[in-house]
Amino acid sequence: MGGGPAGLLLSHLLHTSGIEHVVLESRTRDEIYRTTRAGILEASSVSTLVDAGLDRVLREGDRHDGIALRFDGESHRIDLHGLTGRAVWLYPQTEVFTDLADRRAADGGDVRWQAEVTEVLDLGTDHPGVRWTDAGGAAGGTERELRCDVLVGADGSHSTCRHTLPESLRRHYVHEYPYAWFGVIVEAPRSAPELVYTASEHGFALISQRTETHQRLYFQCDPDEDPSGWDDERIWGELQRRVAGGDGFRLVEGPVEERSVLRFRSSVVEPVRHGRMLLAGDAAHTVPPTGAKGLNLALADVVVLHDVLTTWFARGGNGRADDDLLDEYGRRVSERVWRAQHFSAWMSRMLHSHPAESGFEARRRVAELRTLVDSEAGRRFLAEGYTGWGPIITE
Ligand code: DHB
Repeated sequence: MGGGPAGLLLSHLLHTSGIEHVVLESRTRDEIYRTTRAGILEASSVSTLVDAGLDRVLREGDRHDGIALRFDGESHRIDLHGLTGRAVWLYPQTEVFTDLADRRAADGGDVRWQAEVTEVLDLGTDHPGVRWTDAGGAAGGTERELRCDVLVGADGSHSTCRHTLPESLRRHYVHEYPYAWFGVIVEAPRSAPELVYTASEHGFALISQRTETHQRLYFQCDPDEDPSGWDDERIWGELQRRVAGGDGFRLVEGPVEERSVLRFRSSVVEPVRHGRMLLAGDAAHTVPPTGAKGLNLALADVVVLHDVLTTWFARGGNGRADDDLLDEYGRRVSERVWRAQHFSAWMSRMLHSHPAESGFEARRRVAELRTLVDSEAGRRFLAEGYTGWGPIITE
């Protein structure tokens, strides 16, 4: 369940392994495509896509060998590649989605858009299933039922699947943050060669990129901020004041084409298996966006899940293979999930100002940033987390 990047990558991998399956997605393909999402892929995510035969990222993505941390009005480069041998790629999630959706279509994949799951059935049995409404089909709105060996919930942070886990068996770890991101797409050339993560006395700002003509920028705001109250001038004023410094750095301005507030929180659900249902991606865990880990974690989950499912089916699948084998999935992904939770929470806390922050805490955060950038060990710690903990990609 779920036709975002996690669901579609799993579908593609299952197809290459000859495992029959159906993808049910509640939205239309266009709705997913039009939702602006994050932009950074770790080296291991790029390897995953390339190994799966999806190599447009290497031609059309932008490889980034470093990022800048900016505080006290000065930028400090973190040489990701020099420190770890790994780079990251700027390649928006919507492009990953397009590559996967196009490939599933070309391979005749059974992806049902506008398929709303209304009920999950018989999870504790060998034949779980779902009841769903086929709004995308020719008959429109028909109620259907589907039975299967295994159900995968890759249905996002508002997951229907996750909510079917019995409360008594479910541990839900949640951390809320007292700030959100105001995200904009602007029509303007790049203001800096690499991404700039800025901590300032006015709050956090992130200068990211999209194309030669459009850029993606974010600034910390209140979770209840109403984006309609912000005109272009106010947005640019806020961004400029956060990045300003003695070096005279300024952003190149242009019309704001999209604006929205992104609330975020850290969450992890355990266990990720209940009966014959397994959770993957945002359905199982969400991270604050500061370390750009969300999509990367989802793709990493799916690679392991595919491996575990292939073994499970090879050992006999339904009725014959041991369901405990399926728990291998949770055991294998948990460490990366928690490392990413730590990394994202750490980056967030170091770079954002807490609304009720004391002068002491503000100065302590700047000292943390300075200690980090002045130490090669500190820079490497950041670079290892930012580029992911997977294998090194060589050119
Ligand atoms: C982008 C988003 C992030 O959360 C991040 O850490 C870096 C870049 C982006 O949308 O470009």
